[in-house]
Amino acid sequence: MSGLVLHVTGARPNFPKAAPVIAALEKHGVRQLLVHTGQHYDANMSDVFFRDLGLPAPDLNLGVGSGSHAAQTAAMLTALEETFLAERPDLVLVYGDVNSTLAAALVAAKIGVRVGHVEAGLRSFDWSMPEEVNRVVTDRLSDLLFATSADAIAHLAREGVAPERIHLVGNPMIDTLLRLRDRFDGSRVVAELGLPQEYAVATLHRPGNVDDPAALEPLVTALREVGDRLDVVLPVHPRGRARLEASGLFEHPRVHATEPLGYLEFLGLVEGARLVVTDSGGIQEETTVLAVPCLTLRPNTERPVTITDGTNRLVTPETLPGLVDGILDGTRPVGHRVPPLWDGSAGERIADVVVSNL
Ligand code: UD1
Repeated sequence: MSGLVLHVTGARPNFPKAAPVIAALEKHGVRQLLVHTGQHYDANMSDVFFRDLGLPAPDLNLGVGSGSHAAQTAAMLTALEETFLAERPDLVLVYGDVNSTLAAALVAAKIGVRVGHVEAGLRSFDWSMPEEVNRVVTDRLSDLLFATSADAIAHLAREGVAPERIHLVGNPMIDTLLRLRDRFDGSRVVAELGLPQEYAVATLHRPGNVDDPAALEPLVTALREVGDRLDVVLPVHPRGRARLEASGLFEHPRVHATEPLGYLEFLGLVEGARLVVTDSGGIQEETTVLAVPCLTLRPNTERPVTITDGTNRLVTPETLPGLVDGILDGTRPVGHRVPPLWDGSAGERIADVVVSNL
């Protein structure tokens, strides 16, 4: 056994999850390598996160870039296999539900390297989401499964995962949020856009919402109706940029597009927002902890604790404007409780389990 832990990250949501685990393992003196697949490569989708989060530069960037799911995943499989064979890690840690997560788990399992999955057991039960496929397959391939909430444990148990492999550790993304909260700062964007005190933040990038113009159209209409009520800032993910621009959404005088923002600026904006409209997974969790009402434009969520405990609510384009009214006029008060173990110490709990398994 080499005692080497190799982290695989690649896409924007991986970075705030990996940062606290890397820091906690560092304290234990564990030998670590950080591999970036290159799934996200724009400076504002990747580099800015390394800077904002204080992550060490990746030891290796595989530079796979974009492509169809098959082409992108295939490039990752080939490059990761070479890397794992050369480095012979004792454990590969993977994060979340992106294509980089699945690719790393598959390669490791095939060459007999143990896999730990951070954020295991989340289920939307929506097989049309690429992330759901990634979640289920990654969990099936994993030896150590780190869960953020009790519902995840129940899903894994139902799928037959041995209980001794499952660890309820809390939410490492929230470790990052709590660590950096004092430095959140949305003021540049607020000033540049001349935003009033009360504004909304919106994000939209899920393939099911932005890839198909027929699905996008009602969302654009609904967001324009939100813009009739209060200013909306929408940092545009490259995936939906062309379609969103063509839709005319940003011709509305109170709907403002920005480039993708870094971690500290984005969460600064969210913390100061009256409400958030999103189709992201992680933002449902971040708004829950920041006590900002979150309206999620999806038919389902793999993060139900953000609804039962947090500030989240699933909405359709049809129900969105009315729910925004309810938040603005106070007729729909948004209660919130931070879910158990979302306390800033998840990274340490994960590191303790990892160390005892090396
Ligand atoms: C990926 C994740 C998704 C996550 C999202 C967060 C998968 C299956 N999906 O989706 O779960 O919520 O990241 O951002 O892994 N692009 C750029 N620059 C970049 C990266 C992407 O321009 O740095 C463009 C390319 O046109 C690319 C498209 O965005 O084809 C989609 O990128 P990709 O990594 O395939 O998936 P995301 O939509 O970013």
